[in-house]
Amino acid sequence: MGKDVIIACDFASTEEVIRFLDKFNKIRSEVVSCDHVSISVSRPFVKIGMELFYSEGPAIIKTLKERGHKVFLDLKLHDIPNTVKKTMQVLGDYGVDIVNLHAAGGIEMMKAAKEGLMLGAARFADKPKLIAVTQLTSTDEETMHRELLIDRPLKDVVAEYALNAKKAGLDGVVCSAHEAAIIHEVCGDDFLTVTPGIRLAGDSVGDQKRVMTPAAAKAAGADYIVVGRSITGEDKPVGAYTKCREDFID
Ligand code: C5P
Repeated sequence: MGKDVIIACDFASTEEVIRFLDKFNKIRSEVVSCDHVSISVSRPFVKIGMELFYSEGPAIIKTLKERGHKVFLDLKLHDIPNTVKKTMQVLGDYGVDIVNLHAAGGIEMMKAAKEGLMLGAARFADKPKLIAVTQLTSTDEETMHRELLIDRPLKDVVAEYALNAKKAGLDGVVCSAHEAAIIHEVCGDDFLTVTPGIRLAGDSVGDQKRVMTPAAAKAAGADYIVVGRSITGEDKPVGAYTKCREDFID
């Protein structure tokens, strides 16, 4: 998997997601060639989060995979190792492309997760990537100190959690684009950095605290950007998506 823009489909129902993604069909009919780029533009990589998954169940994943989308299933698992392993086995069987958990669950939990995921995905040639959340992009350093009682600087915590994820055999982390460079420095260039908290210039920040534009995320070395409201909340979401791709990939 190369650099890509992942759209956070934070909608309330499958119907709303499909209605949104159908807007991209127009690009499909406009492209003559059927090369990799054309396919990724007309069938964007999507992220499905808890709200949609808990309301619609695994059928939403099946629907999106059948339509040709790559799917990042963002459920952020965090539980005892055995429970996470068994759950990951179930998720691996869905054919998802990326799935995640909280690095705060520790190395043993992350190793168990990887084992479970690989068992579940045994029948697929393309194995899913397993990535860890270091600190949520809605958490800033002050909140981490005051509420989570973690005294170290945020950057150190993110780097240490990323290193734990690497030791556990994971493929990368979800992090702020502000931390992509330090993570690559500590964990190597092949270790994926998947970065939410992305805003097109001039867009509202909302509840995110550490945001970056797609161009800045590219310069920071992010491998994937996850973009929600800067695409889904726009009157012209296909245009916003294309702009994100141009700024991040081209
Ligand atoms: O709308 P916005 O671009 O802020 O959406 C970001 C998406 O990325 C949301 O679905 C959010 O749950 C997710 N996310 C995040 N920070 C993380 C992990 C996931 O914002 N650390």
